[in-house]
Amino acid sequence: MTLDAFAQWLGQTPLSQVVQNVSWIIPSVQSIHILCIAIVISAVFMVDLRLLGVIGRDQPTAAYTSRFLSWIWPTLVLLLLSGSILIIGEPSRSLLNPAFQTKMVLLILAMIVTAILQRPTFKDPAYWELTAGHRMSARVLAVISLLLWVGIVFAGRWIAYMNTAGE
Ligand code: HEM
Repeated sequence: MTLDAFAQWLGQTPLSQVVQNVSWIIPSVQSIHILCIAIVISAVFMVDLRLLGVIGRDQPTAAYTSRFLSWIWPTLVLLLLSGSILIIGEPSRSLLNPAFQTKMVLLILAMIVTAILQRPTFKDPAYWELTAGHRMSARVLAVISLLLWVGIVFAGRWIAYMNTAGE
């Protein structure tokens, strides 16, 4: 089954019809999606800017990584749920959309980088401050992380402007 055929099939399902025809569902779900974006992006910026030494130098990096990284994963689950409802409601608008596909690739990479940043801190919260090499690695990962998450936001917003279905 091609992605196009799958999108056509999904758009005909009773669940998709409900999401399409109950007028408050899509705007409410988009609002929840946007609130979750704000939480994830705030947490990411707090951690990455601390690792880059731009903010919070008076506190150890552990104070930021332990406080903010834990917000990302549960919020990503809410983003996946709200995003899935948006896909079910307008499958062709997102599934066939290059901006959406780019966003999903960036999201997988961003999740991998976030896990790389978080994992060592479970064993040693001060891991990223142990040596000059650790600090440099943290800075490189922080820059990559910032670029990926900002890219996800741009790609997410561009979905509406690269709409494939309604052309
Ligand atoms: C976890 C999986 C995710 C899925 C399945 C998903 C899916 C979607 C879908 C289908 C849309 C609607 C596009 C439209 O119709 O215009 C959307 C919008 C958007 N998404 Fe996601 N998304 C996910 C995660 C994220 C994440 C992690 C971010 C950023 C941190 C993000 C940022 C955005 C933005 C900025 C928009 C445009 C919102 C608007 O202007 O209304 N999404 N997403």
